[in-house]
Amino acid sequence: MSSLADQIDKSRLPQHIAIIMDGNGRWAEEKGQERLYGHFHGVESVRNIVEGCAELGVGYLTLYAFSTENWDRPQQEVDGLMSLLVETIRKEVPILNKNNIRLHVIGDMSMLPGYAYNELQEALEMTAKNTGLNLIMALSYSSRWELVNAVKTIGLDVQAGKINPEMIDQHTLQRYLTTSNFPDPELMIRTSGEYRISNFLLYQLAYAELYFTNTRWPDFRKENLYEAIIDFQGRERRFGKTGQQLQNEKQPV
Ligand code: IPE
Ligand code: IPE
Ligand code: MG
Repeated sequence: MSSLADQIDKSRLPQHIAIIMDGNGRWAEEKGQERLYGHFHGVESVRNIVEGCAELGVGYLTLYAFSTENWDRPQQEVDGLMSLLVETIRKEVPILNKNNIRLHVIGDMSMLPGYAYNELQEALEMTAKNTGLNLIMALSYSSRWELVNAVKTIGLDVQAGKINPEMIDQHTLQRYLTTSNFPDPELMIRTSGEYRISNFLLYQLAYAELYFTNTRWPDFRKENLYEAIIDFQGRERRFGKTGQQLQNEKQPV
């Protein structure tokens, strides 16, 4: 591995990394190409980063691939993205299996065209027994959609007498989110120089460390991931406490 990878403290890896893969369109336009050309090359980065996370031993990687709002893009781009998705899944499943990677999806699957939905379901089943990296694709996902859905289902369960509203706490809400089986992300990376969350994991990112880079997603490679992790490891995560308290906690009593 490279020298940057050597600088990573393997005992303090972020357990869950979430990435907003942004900048495909601009990357392509800067090269005088169609936006879809950028999405196509973005797949290379996905492959590279998934491999990088698996090699390091990261437990969970969530990739924001398509937001609920992205349905409003020009039809040609949406169609192109959907066929790219299906084609990629078809090609990648054997590689996921070879590397013991389990695929998960979060998002409003009812919005997907039938052929994409079926392909995805098959891929989920085919990788379900893998025990290595959990690769979570956020597809047709938005945090507000997820939260509204959770509230609706909690309401129905209260009505059905399954839960007592007095007993609702953070754990209850957590169980109704699409991410109920995953720990919260500890590191969130956004590529391409935008400093916003764009409706991604609003609740789950409460205490995530945020890392922004100007690198466009199709140029993002393992080395860039290592830089982000090294930066993460240099930060003091205080969770509301004071730095002094954290120092005291570190000392043996
Ligand atoms: C991210 O790249 C991929 C998706 C949202 C599907 P963009 O397509 O948003 O690229 P830019 O931000 O327009 O450059
Ligand atoms: C966020 O990127 C969604 C994904 C990367 C899938 P966008 O490009 O859609 O976000 P905005 O519109 O710049 O906020
Ligand atoms: Mg964008």
